[in-house]
Amino acid sequence: MLTMQEIKSHYYFTDTDAKLLEELLPLARQNCEAMVEEFYGYLLKIPETAAFLRDPKDLQKLRQTHAQWFLSLFCGRYDNGYMITLQGIGQAHVRIKVSAHYVNAAMNVVRRFLIELLQANFPEIEARRKYRIAVEKILDINLDIMSTSYQEEELRKVFVSHRLESKLIHAAERFTYGLNLILVVALIIVSLSVVGLFFWDLVHVFSGSMEKGILSALGSLLILWMMIELMDNEIKTLKGGKFNILIFIGVIIVALIREILISTLRHDALETQAFLAGTLLILGIVYFLVAKSQNGNIH
Ligand code: HEM
Repeated sequence: MLTMQEIKSHYYFTDTDAKLLEELLPLARQNCEAMVEEFYGYLLKIPETAAFLRDPKDLQKLRQTHAQWFLSLFCGRYDNGYMITLQGIGQAHVRIKVSAHYVNAAMNVVRRFLIELLQANFPEIEARRKYRIAVEKILDINLDIMSTSYQEEELRKVFVSHRLESKLIHAAERFTYGLNLILVVALIIVSLSVVGLFFWDLVHVFSGSMEKGILSALGSLLILWMMIELMDNEIKTLKGGKFNILIFIGVIIVALIREILISTLRHDALETQAFLAGTLLILGIVYFLVAKSQNGNIH
């Protein structure tokens, strides 16, 4: 947080500037009414700012407030108290939600008014230049302190949502990690079941139905192979790698191939076999399209 002394030094605002401004106070007083006229004429012309000035009774009070601020530009004492007052003014506008843009634009109206006033009252160019520089400095300092309130408000907004955001993201990440762990455990159980299935198929080989046993065992091995791929992929995901949907589709395709093998052996109805073959075709197309979108081309 800067002190008024620091702010003034950054603008090269000296005691001479303060004195020059104080000298302008009588002129400012004489023209205060005209300034307020111009200020309000400007604000009432813009619908967005006019909306803040609708109530006529309040308007009179508000005109006085803005007039007082105008005169305080020439008070001659610009200490920390002055800075705190300006911070309060900035906050008042942030609170009622007057956009910073209009405050900047209104300051430009005041600046133009004062420059023209100096132009009309100080024909001697050197004197006018001194006053103009002092006026420019104090207006810039006013705008600087007032707009800091807007920046602080912006920062607060970002900070609140940033904290909330990172908490949410953290919670979501932990949740996903937990789900992935459950998936791995489930995959282990399913893989063990496939091993069991493989041995069950082998029993068929020894119990007479050689052809059925071998083909079923082959199907089970295919599924086991895909399960290994699936788990490998899942472990990679857990370690921070990229999830590969293609492997999931591969597992389904392999499971379907196994089903077709068995279906042929069982001499199932033609429709059942056609249905399985159709599904396999569709899955094949899906696999192709996903692989294509992942790699840009299929190998
Ligand atoms: C050069 C720019 C401006 C200056 C220096 C200025 C100055 C002030 C001051 C000194 C106050 C009193 C603050 C307080 O209650 O502590 C005030 C209040 C107010 N100003 Fe401005 N103002 C400026 C621009 C604007 C603009 C662009 C509008 C838009 C319409 C506006 C509308 C108001 C309103 C509605 C209030 C009353 C706030 C309340 O109810 O608390 N001002 N202004």
